[in-house]
Amino acid sequence: MGYETLLVETRGRVGLITLNRPQALNALNAAVMRDLHEALNAFDADKGVGAIVLTGSEKAFAAGADVKEMQALDFVEGYLGDFLGGWERVADARKPMIAAVSGYALGGGCELAMMCDLIIASETAKFGQPEITLGVIPGMGGSQRLTRAIGKAKAMDLILTGRMMDAAEAERSGLVSRVVAPDRLLEEALGAAEKIASFSLPAAMMAKEAVSRSLELTLAEGLRFERRLFQSLFATEDQKEGMGAFVAKRKAEFKNK
Ligand code: HXC
Repeated sequence: MGYETLLVETRGRVGLITLNRPQALNALNAAVMRDLHEALNAFDADKGVGAIVLTGSEKAFAAGADVKEMQALDFVEGYLGDFLGGWERVADARKPMIAAVSGYALGGGCELAMMCDLIIASETAKFGQPEITLGVIPGMGGSQRLTRAIGKAKAMDLILTGRMMDAAEAERSGLVSRVVAPDRLLEEALGAAEKIASFSLPAAMMAKEAVSRSLELTLAEGLRFERRLFQSLFATEDQKEGMGAFVAKRKAEFKNK
C-alpha cells in the first residue's frame, strides 16, 4: 500500500519503514504520524514480521517535529487535541523495533529514535534536543527517555544548551548500541533485525516487554513480572524446540507458537 510520507516494505521477516519527506529533512508532521500508525498496525498484526527497522535518509533520520506546522498552534488547540500525544503509538509497538540513524536526529527525531528498542547509528549521526532554541522544551519524551538513557548530567547539558552530540559521544553515553560506517548502516540494522526475527516471536516480544517495563517498575515488581513471563514461555512449543535442539546439538527451528 502507498504512504504519503513513508516507504514501507518487508525484507524476509523484517518490516522496513523509511521516513520519506526529503524536502523537509523528514520533519515529523501529522501525516507522518498517521502513516506510521498505519504501518505499525499492519506490522504488529502480521505474523510474518518478527522485527521492525525504522530509518530515514543519509542526511537526516528526522530533523524534528515540523516547526512550520506547529508554529501557529495555540494552547487550547494543542491541549484539547493532545498535540504530540499520538506519537506514543511508536513506543507501544509490540514487535522489537530498531532505529537506524544517519545524519540529524534532532528534537522529535531524537525522541522518535528513543521510542524504538535500540538505536544503531552511522558515524555521521547527530543527536540533540534543540527545542530550547525555539522557545519550547522537548515534547515527545526527550526530557524523560533521554534522561533514563544517558543520565541527568548529559540530558541536562543537551536539553538546556541545545547542542548536538555526535555518534561517538552518543555511544559512550549509552544512547546508541552500535556505531557503523555510513554505507553499512542499513545492512547492520537489517542484520540485527533478522537475527531477532529468527528467534521465537513470543520470546522476543516478551523480552522487549520485560526490558521496557524495567524503566517503569520497582525492582521487586520488575523481577516478579520478568519471572511470570519467563514461566509463561514454558507453555510454548518454541521453548521445547529451543531447549530440545540445544540438548540434541542441532539448530532450533522456531515456529512462533
Ligand atoms: C520543518 C524543517 C525542519 C523542521 C528542517 N526543515 N528541519 N522544516 N521542521 N524541524 C526544512 C528547512 O526549513 C528547509 O526547508 C529544509 O528542511 C532543509 O533544511 P536546511 O535548514 O536548509 O538544512 P541545513 O542547512 O543542512 O540544516 C540542517 C539542520 C536545520 C541543522 C537540521 O534544518 C535545523 O536546525 N532544523 C531544525 C532543527 C530543530 O530545531 N528541530 C527541533 C524541532 S522542535 P526549506 O523550505 O527552507 O528548503 C521539535 C519539538 C518536539 O522537534 C516536540 C516538542 C515541541
